[in-house]
Amino acid sequence: MQLRVTVLPGDGIGPEVTREAVSILRAVADHGGHEFTFTELLIGGVAISETGGPLPQTTIDGGLASDAVLLGAVGDNRFNHLSPEKRPEAGLLQIRQLLGGFANLRPSVAYAALAASSPLRADVTEGVDILFVRELLGGLYFGIPRAWNKETGEAFNTMRYTREEVQRVARVAFEVAGKRRGKVTSVDKANVLETSQLWRATVTEVAAEYPGVTLEHQFVDSMAMHLMNTPRNFDVVLTENLFGDILSDEAGVITGSLGMLPSATIGGAVNLYEPVHGSAPDIAGSGKANPLGAILTAAMVLRYSAGLEQEAVAVESAVRRVLQDGHRTADISRDQTAVLTSTEAMGRLVHEALSQDLGRKGSMHAV
Ligand code: IPM
Ligand code: MN
Repeated sequence: MQLRVTVLPGDGIGPEVTREAVSILRAVADHGGHEFTFTELLIGGVAISETGGPLPQTTIDGGLASDAVLLGAVGDNRFNHLSPEKRPEAGLLQIRQLLGGFANLRPSVAYAALAASSPLRADVTEGVDILFVRELLGGLYFGIPRAWNKETGEAFNTMRYTREEVQRVARVAFEVAGKRRGKVTSVDKANVLETSQLWRATVTEVAAEYPGVTLEHQFVDSMAMHLMNTPRNFDVVLTENLFGDILSDEAGVITGSLGMLPSATIGGAVNLYEPVHGSAPDIAGSGKANPLGAILTAAMVLRYSAGLEQEAVAVESAVRRVLQDGHRTADISRDQTAVLTSTEAMGRLVHEALSQDLGRKGSMHAV
């Protein structure tokens, strides 16, 4: 199969972790006789430095002309003084909008080998397998009007949703839940916000189309607590944009580190793939970054853009084996005296584990 991937390494640790993800995709392509092409383009702070803006037209054109966009991370403290629409993050928000994907899938899986890496007890995290479906194109992130009036000392943002926006993301949640354990937990603040009342009413309506799936509603504050107390109770968690942003970082605690979490955004013209973590400027260039979030994101590229489910599972199993063998980057190591694995070495280990696995199964394109 052919796949044109636009690669946007971005800022901080973005380039380091993306390199490892791309190398895994190349390995899968080489092994299976697939033709994957990779075109690197600019986004974020590095794009501001080189072109004056966070999302150059060449990146927009390249992204829209490709089959998948793989992003590293954006965010650079040098631009903290800029207003939101000029900052590195604006490039990311704009490309999300242009690619059109509205359903951001963020799996949060507790690996048995990492039970000791989470501050939560092993009996709490054991077997956790949650899929967050975060609405990505609406809510406070994009609502207008918005402004900070420095003269009057007033600032405001607008939380806005339409019934259609809620319906389409809810359908994605119910569809995937039907293929999983059949439960959707919808998160809102319907005791306070009108947008949340619309959210709850619409999700309840959509639920009627999926009799095989159970729906429960949770207020976001209470959800934040249940997620730490009883994470195993959740299957698919459906949220609006900001609530999903917050809760998915919290879910990083279950897996041991934010550095473990991948994401895929579907439903638009071109799927967008990005690890959940940020640019982590404090450790950029030190070889400490965990590339597993980016590598698991590559697995999602294989699953949702290449239709290579078997290979996606092979990448995920390779990650699991490397963790079982005890390899740890700093973020997932609780042992202060342990020998840490560098970003590059971690990528190589996954690559080796994957090659062994693919080698055993023989070429998936065997003649
Ligand atoms: C994320 C990030 C982004 C978001 C930022 C960088 C704009 O935190 O993907 O979770 O808030 O969506
Ligand atoms: Mn976030």
